[in-house]
Amino acid sequence: KTISLIGAPTDVGASVRGAGMGPDALRVAGLNEALAARQFNVVDHGNLHGPANPWQQPVNGLRHLKEAIDWNQAVYDAVNQALMQGHIPMMLGGDHCLAIGSISAVAAHCRRAGKKLRVLWFDAHADSNLSTISPTGNIHGMPVACLMGHGPQELISYAGHTPAIQPADIRLIGIRSVDAGEKKFIHDMGMQVFDMRYIDEYGMRNVMSSALADLDADTHLHVSFDMDCLDPGIAPGVGTAVLGGPTYREAQLCMEMIADTGLLASLDLVELNPALDIRNQTAILAVDLIESLFGKSTLVRM
Ligand code: ARG
Ligand code: MN
Ligand code: MN
Ligand code: MN
Repeated sequence: KTISLIGAPTDVGASVRGAGMGPDALRVAGLNEALAARQFNVVDHGNLHGPANPWQQPVNGLRHLKEAIDWNQAVYDAVNQALMQGHIPMMLGGDHCLAIGSISAVAAHCRRAGKKLRVLWFDAHADSNLSTISPTGNIHGMPVACLMGHGPQELISYAGHTPAIQPADIRLIGIRSVDAGEKKFIHDMGMQVFDMRYIDEYGMRNVMSSALADLDADTHLHVSFDMDCLDPGIAPGVGTAVLGGPTYREAQLCMEMIADTGLLASLDLVELNPALDIRNQTAILAVDLIESLFGKSTLVRM
C-alpha cells in the first residue's frame, strides 16, 4: 500500500502564525522513515504552493477567505489525485481549515466508489463556527460547518456537491472548547460528540468502540487529527492549546483501535506549530502516534 504525503504549509486559517511550518517539522521528526518501517511505500509529494498569509483582519466575519479558498483548492486537487491512484493521502497541515479541501475530496471519492464514509475528528475545538457566529473570524474554526454545507459558497462546493458530508458521517472526539453559537449548531445538526466529560465518564476504550461502531468493509475511514486535541502537557506545539486533553496512553489507544479496524484510508495531521514547540517534541509525538495508527504494536497481533 502506498501513502501519499501532501504538505500544505499555511496558517491562513489560524489565529496564531506558525502552523505553516508543520509539514517540514514532521519530516524532520522522521515521518517518512517511520512509515517506510511500517512496510508502506511512501511517496512524498513535497509541499503544495499557495498564497502567503497577508495577516489581515476579518472581512464580514471571515479572515483570509480568498487565501483559504486557494489553499483548499490545492489540497482538494492533490488529495483527489492520490485517491484516484489508490493511495492513502496524508495531508500535513497547516491549519485545520485545510480539512475542508481534504475531506471534500474524500467524500467525492466515496460517492464515486459507492463507499460509506466515517470521519473521526480529533480536536479540542468543535470547528463548527459560521462567519455569523464566530468570535474570531478564523476559518480553522469553521471546517466542520463548511463540510456540512454551512459556509461561503466557494468553501462548501469543491466537489460540486453540497453538503460534502452528512452529520451522521462524523464523530468529534476530545472536545473541550465550544463557542456559544457552535453549541447550538452541534445540537441542531445532531452530530455525535465525545467531549472530554464523556471520555472521563466512559473511558477512551468505550468512546472509541462507539465512534467506530457500525463500520464494515465498505467504509472509508478518515481521521482528521488536530494536534491540539492532545493535552498541552504532552503537545505544547499548537496555536490554540486548551487544558485537559487526552493523555499519551489514551491517544495511543485511539490510534491502536483505529489501526485494528484495517479501514483507515486517509488522514489529516494539522495544527502542529513548530514556532511554539519545544525541541520538536510535538512533531515527534505526532510521528509516534502515526506509527500506531498504521499498525505498530508492542506484541505480535493475532
Ligand atoms: N473556536 C475558536 C474559533 O473559532 C477556536 C478554533 C480553533 N480551531 C482549530 N482548528 N485549532 O476561533
Ligand atoms: Mn481543529
Ligand atoms: Mn483545535
Ligand atoms: Mn443545513
